[in-house]
Amino acid sequence: MLAYLTTIALLAHHVAAQGNMLRFACSQLVVDRVDPIVQPGIPYAAHLHQIVGGNSFNLTMDPANHDLPSLSTCTSCSFKEDFSNYWTAVMFFHHKNGSYIRVPQTGNGGPQGQLDNKGGLDVYYIPSGKVTAFKPGFRMIAGNAANTVDSKVNKQAICNRCWTGTSDTPFVGGAPCSGSDTVDIPADPKCKMIRQTIIFPTCWDGKNLDSPDHQSHVAYSGGYASGGGACPSAFPVKVPQIMYEVMWNVTNFADKSLWPADGTAPFVYSMDIGGPAAHGDYVFGWQGNTLQAAMDNNCNLNADCPKAGIHKQTDAEYNACTKAQMAPETVDGWIKALPLGDKAVKA
Ligand SMILES: *[C@@H]1O[C@H](CO)[C@@H](O)[C@H](O)[C@H]1NC(C)=O
Ligand SMILES: *[C@@H]1O[C@H](CO)[C@@H](O)[C@H](O)[C@H]1NC(C)=O
Ligand SMILES: *[C@@H]1O[C@H](CO)[C@@H](O)[C@H](O)[C@H]1NC(C)=O
Repeated sequence: MLAYLTTIALLAHHVAAQGNMLRFACSQLVVDRVDPIVQPGIPYAAHLHQIVGGNSFNLTMDPANHDLPSLSTCTSCSFKEDFSNYWTAVMFFHHKNGSYIRVPQTGNGGPQGQLDNKGGLDVYYIPSGKVTAFKPGFRMIAGNAANTVDSKVNKQAICNRCWTGTSDTPFVGGAPCSGSDTVDIPADPKCKMIRQTIIFPTCWDGKNLDSPDHQSHVAYSGGYASGGGACPSAFPVKVPQIMYEVMWNVTNFADKSLWPADGTAPFVYSMDIGGPAAHGDYVFGWQGNTLQAAMDNNCNLNADCPKAGIHKQTDAEYNACTKAQMAPETVDGWIKALPLGDKAVKA
């Protein structure tokens, strides 16, 4: 992580106050086949997601009247004031006998501290200079769940990294989505963990809380993990750089003799597609002015920040915030096929 910060500092050399950022754990709220952004109101949506954050998460979250902070009674993310929802696909291991099992997840470690996640993901808000926090109703998507082609993916924003140890201390590798990071999910028995990174656009058009494809109201600056870089003129408002990090623990699936005999991928995301289909969804839901205050006051990592009025919950507190599936089906243990159309069936 130290090397990571150094790289960020180098990438963002033109930015004055680089360094502090929020980095915190979010445990699983629910693993559910719902998608209030792309398929609002539809249970058994196209594919399975893991959702973290405020428990007002619902089948429908109309930006005009779904106020996440007031409708939520808890959040599975570390900061008590953050009722946002964050979601991604989940990863499955495909056994050569045809069955699938969901790959377990854990928090990331490193010099910045181990994040304790019960499933879920790590979230970053990285400011680069003065940033403008998102507005209530704001949402966006990074990546494309239907994409099957590596070359269509912005590899500087969406990638996977093979972790040959079960810990990232000492830290190996450069900035997120650099070096030998790949769009594809690594298929190498040496990998003990696969770290998935999803970096969101950091420039906003300043007008639209959403757009028909949930992407064209925002743009990348070219700075990626640093949040640095100049925004394109049509997207003049610099927002905090959101980054998700998902640590998939593939230790139990390293035995290549169990992998599909036809050479197809041992690891896929929920869509039954590999790395090119990786995507992340975000619905802003911080209470009042707290995110703006956290950015303005250089709040750092996963700690209380009195100047901004944000408070870290205990692991037990955020782990306890869960929600029942709205599209009930089996998502744990061996299943006969991926939950894509019909309900999943136990293997
Ligand atoms: C979720 O939506 C249903 C149906 O509209 C509603 O009855 C319920 O109160 C909502 N839950 C939350 C937490 O907003
Ligand atoms: C990863 O999975 C292995 C095998 O189940 C387990 O022994 C190990 O503790 C897990 N590591 C983490 C960091 O969760
Ligand atoms: C495939 O292997 C797993 C692990 O041994 C087992 O639990 C599952 O039932 C098997 N599936 C089939 C269809 O045989």
